Formats: sequence, structure tokens, C-alpha cells
Amino acid sequence: MKKLVVGNWKMHGSRASNAELLQGLVSADLTVTAPRADVVVCPPFVFLSDVAAALKGVAISVGSQDISAQAQGAFTGEVSGLMIRELGVKYAIVGHSERRSYHAESDQLVAEKAKSALSHGLVPIVCVGETLAERESSQTEVVVARQLKAVIDTLGDQLVQIVVAYEPVWAIGTGKTASPEQAQAVHALLRAQLKAAMPQAAAVPLLYGGSVKPDNAVELFAQPDIDGGLIGGAALKAADFVAIARAA
Ligand code: 13P
Repeated sequence: MKKLVVGNWKMHGSRASNAELLQGLVSADLTVTAPRADVVVCPPFVFLSDVAAALKGVAISVGSQDISAQAQGAFTGEVSGLMIRELGVKYAIVGHSERRSYHAESDQLVAEKAKSALSHGLVPIVCVGETLAERESSQTEVVVARQLKAVIDTLGDQLVQIVVAYEPVWAIGTGKTASPEQAQAVHALLRAQLKAAMPQAAAVPLLYGGSVKPDNAVELFAQPDIDGGLIGGAALKAADFVAIARAA
């Protein structure tokens, strides 16, 4: 399967720094250096239009970091999939742990956002993952299974069209990566759950996220059930992000 490498810029960037970062990615020509990986960047909403325009004709896709569960209406401050689809955006991250924890997003809301993304022709990248306290109390399996179940129950046959990202919360921005074995173990569970829901969903790409860097990417991506990565901090440095895409 072709790997998928997604950069989540989070709330970083400016027009000037974005232009520099994109210049670094474009000049690295990822179509030559990472022919076996699809590459996506997810800037903040306000920059989606600029970034999509800058990447026109370049083999790097654009995604958003969130979307509303609604298409349109009196939802102040929200941005819908319908709106960003018009800009040439292809992916939407939903259920990132920072949204779940700082914005109290429930499993069901995340599932509805995934459904909304699909209804507007976007591929949802659904994030799941346990906190440190949950891992230490042996709840990892239960938590990720519950988060994924809401999506399975809501999407029906559309399940085959999504991407899932496993991001252990304790590994995000901490420099503490899950070991390749720890990540693989959870990915295998997610794969089995998807397959049990729908045999074709075994092919859903499973990304790992949490302190992925150029020096650990090769080993992580070599795991049988790790189909790529969701990259935070290292996606803000062109050289690092290119190196990770090459590792794929
Ligand atoms: P870091 O790569 O900075 O740990 O962030 C991971 C992440 O949250 C990507 O969505």
C-alpha cells in the first residue's frame, strides 16, 4: 500500500513562514524523492486558500485540521466541509486529541464530523488515542475501540473511505514516541476492529502520530500495520518533513 504522510501544522504559521516552508517542500520535489508516499499538509483554516493555491500542480494535497459537523447555518465561528472543498482541500482531520480535550469533542461529534467530511467529498483523518493515565491503567484498548466504534456505527459502508490516525496523547509534542512495537500493537487492534465491521475496511490506511521525527520514522513505517504518519512539530521544518516523507 502507498504510504500517507500528513503534516498537521496546528496553530502555527504566517504568510511569510508558510511560503518559506512550502518552498522547501516544493523544491525537494517529493514526487521524485517519495514516490511511494502521498503527502498532505494541514495548515490553519485561514491559510487553506493560500496554501492550496501555492500547491496547485504540485503533488502535495491540502487538508484542514477540523471541520464543522454541519454544512451551513447559524453556527458562529464554525467552518464547514462544503466551504473548504471549494478551495481544493481534499482531507479533514477530525477528532484530534487537542480538539477532544480542549473543545470537549465527544466520540459521537467526531463521528458526525467524519460523516460531514465524506458528504462534501473530503477524506476524514479520524484521530484516536489514549492519555497517559489511560495507558497506565491498561485502558488503551478500551479507549481506542470506543472512539473507533462511534465512527464505525455512524458511517456504515462509507467506513472504507476514511483514514484513521492513532495518536497516543502522551506521545504528542513530548518527544516520547510510542515504540514501533507499542504502535504496531494498537494498529493491529484497530485493523481487526475495522475488518470485523466490514471486510473491505481492512484496507483503511492507519497512520501513527506522536513525536515522529526523521530518525524514528523508518522503523515506525516498517511495521506491518503502520501505513504512514501524522506529523506535528517536524512538519514545520521542510527538511524534517521531507526526510519523513522519504522514510515512507
Ligand atoms: P508531534 O509530532 O508534534 O508530537 O504532534 C503529533 C500530532 O499531534 C499530529 O497531529
